[in-house]
Amino acid sequence: MAGDERVPAQIDPTVPSVARMYDYYLGGKDNFPADREAAEQVIELGRQTGTDIREVALANRGFLIRGVRELAQAGIRQFLDIGTGLPTQDNVHQVVQRVTPDARVVYTDNDPIVLAHARALLADNPSTIIVDADLRRPESVLEAAAGHLDFTQPTAIVIAAVLHFLHDDAEVARIVETLRRPLVPGGYLMISHAYIEPGVGEEATVDEVRGVYGRSTSGAFAWRGREALHGYFEGLELLDPGVVPAQQWRNDDPYAWPGLAKGGVLAGVARVP
Ligand SMILES: C[S@@+](CC[C@H](N)C(=O)[O-])C[C@H]1O[C@@H](n2cnc3c(N)ncnc32)[C@H](O)[C@@H]1O
Repeated sequence: MAGDERVPAQIDPTVPSVARMYDYYLGGKDNFPADREAAEQVIELGRQTGTDIREVALANRGFLIRGVRELAQAGIRQFLDIGTGLPTQDNVHQVVQRVTPDARVVYTDNDPIVLAHARALLADNPSTIIVDADLRRPESVLEAAAGHLDFTQPTAIVIAAVLHFLHDDAEVARIVETLRRPLVPGGYLMISHAYIEPGVGEEATVDEVRGVYGRSTSGAFAWRGREALHGYFEGLELLDPGVVPAQQWRNDDPYAWPGLAKGGVLAGVARVP
């Protein structure tokens, strides 16, 4: 991608970006050598702990697509997708606007390349915008979204594969609690988050993965378990099948996902009563 005129001047391509590493896991081309090198390190460390990182990324995307499609089919017409990532196949707006052509979507991210690519993709889509907002300032995320979404109407807030880039548990809980606040009855909260099965986290390789992400744009990585996710959904009505590995969330695909026995992404969707 180096030399591409869509690369904003302020980015440093030698620092691995979590957005571009994820793009690499998914088989995308919007990444630099430093991203690929860091991603390959994580893929190798994953292999050593029995986890296929590319399967993790694909399982997460599968959950995201099935989840927003179901919510669109349930009548939700507004989506706020926080930490949206680089455009890929079947982006949220494409999935939900196939169900409801005028569904409104706000994407937020803090990576300049994500913003540049999404702006190019969305230039002709009046129902969808991307805004530059940092999840660590959730009030600013809501403020930016409020210009495009009507929070008096049921809205789905999507926080997929991004909370694990923040290491402070209390901060993450506060962020989710703030983001949930404007949801009116009939709205939804969708979350996915990296986890590892008990025991796997004791291995030194886990520290090495933390180290790779520590040197990336996020500066951190933290796995969390079912208890943490249940906390984020507290007081809401969890849809079946509850908080489960992403590949198991309403998935009819008989494929067994053998690379995810030791960890992956936990996912859930809940409705505001
Ligand atoms: C692993 S990707 C997930 C993309 C998409 N949500 C998905 O689940 O397929 C994480 C995304 O979160 C973004 N991100 C990381 N930290 C962020 C922050 N503090 N504020 C906003 N976005 C952030 C990254 O730039 C990246 O695009």
